[in-house]
Amino acid sequence: MSEVKAGLEGVVAGETAICSVRPEGELVYRGYDVHDLAEQASFEEVAYLVLLGRLPTRAELEAFDAELRSQRALPPGVVESLELLPSDAVPMDALRTAVSALALYDPDAGDDSREANLRKATRLLARLATVVAAVHRLSQGLEVVAPDPGLNHAASFLHMLRGERPDEFEARVLEVTLILYMEHEFNASTFTARVIASTLADLYGAVVGAIAALKGPLHGGANEKAMDVILEIGEPERAEGWVEESLREKKRVMGFGHRIYKTADSRVEVAKKWGVLLGRQLDDTRLSEICMTVEEVMRREKNLCPNVDFYAAPIYHMMKIPIGLNTPIFAMSRVVGWSAHIIEQTDNNRLYRPNSRYVGATGLEFQPLDRRG
Ligand code: ACO
Repeated sequence: MSEVKAGLEGVVAGETAICSVRPEGELVYRGYDVHDLAEQASFEEVAYLVLLGRLPTRAELEAFDAELRSQRALPPGVVESLELLPSDAVPMDALRTAVSALALYDPDAGDDSREANLRKATRLLARLATVVAAVHRLSQGLEVVAPDPGLNHAASFLHMLRGERPDEFEARVLEVTLILYMEHEFNASTFTARVIASTLADLYGAVVGAIAALKGPLHGGANEKAMDVILEIGEPERAEGWVEESLREKKRVMGFGHRIYKTADSRVEVAKKWGVLLGRQLDDTRLSEICMTVEEVMRREKNLCPNVDFYAAPIYHMMKIPIGLNTPIFAMSRVVGWSAHIIEQTDNNRLYRPNSRYVGATGLEFQPLDRRG
């Protein structure tokens, strides 16, 4: 009988040409190192790359960007559905509900051709940011802000969230984090999306499943829990003692550890750098200092490295974004990776259906209900 690998650790579950992740800390999208993409490309350029497989020419990028800008507005029925949600709805739950609702208004919903899937993926990418901003504003009793076609994806999100145009540097920092979050091979949410797609279910259904998986604190939800940790520590001087005590109590420090990365998460270096730059601009680098001390102590005590969530969370906090939006922001970008994987799975499909090893009872004699008391 074949060996059971708990959590499928080390199991190669399929082939992909979208992304590669190496334990020593290398992350590559379609052949390009994520550092180069985050530092030199725009969010729209990288989204085109991940979704369509190659970097766009200037004309292709302009057309893709124009398409995204033109698709940002939500169908009125979706806005009405969001207005009916309880004001204390968890933003990830609201996002998951909104994606289900978006499917009902998509003219391509019933068409699973490659071309239709690309159109749906582009629409979803354009609209997820609008949903996240709208969910937040409605929960605060504020009017939904219409998308501004004069702004790029990251700046437009901040504008819809706050009702005012953001500072250019701040929008660029957000854009960098979105590039870092865009794609990560066969992680739990992407694998969920691929499993759903492998049944020939539709793209929206696969993305809804992926959002549900991303919410978990061992996955994307860690970027909210990590912020709770950083705020609980509060001051750089308290960081060392806090970590030592948590480890003594056998607690998991959220934002640390990774199934694949064992020495470094390649995204951390970039997120750390931009977090420090943002802190300097705001004249307050305390959050970065806390993170760096926690990182040092975690390496020393547990030989564990931080993952991207630990350094993305304080960036969003410095931008005054509520913690409950951290994971939805992650989803706003990862939808590109999910969609690319759903399309890749569909292009060369085989149903995912692994085996299990049965460890339950056997040979029990059935007793009719009236003899069971
Ligand atoms: N804090 C303290 N100890 C940890 C942590 C942590 N964050 N992560 C792992 N460990 C320890 C475990 O306690 C375990 O120790 P033990 O062998 O002494 O019992 C050992 O490291 C191995 O842990 P596993 O859970 O088996 O490792 P796995 O590869 O399954 O876990 C995971 C990866 C789930 C990400 C884990 O590191 C974790 O829970 N981290 C915190 C949550 C987190 O940050 N998730 C985000 C991941 S990145 C992303 O999704 C964007």
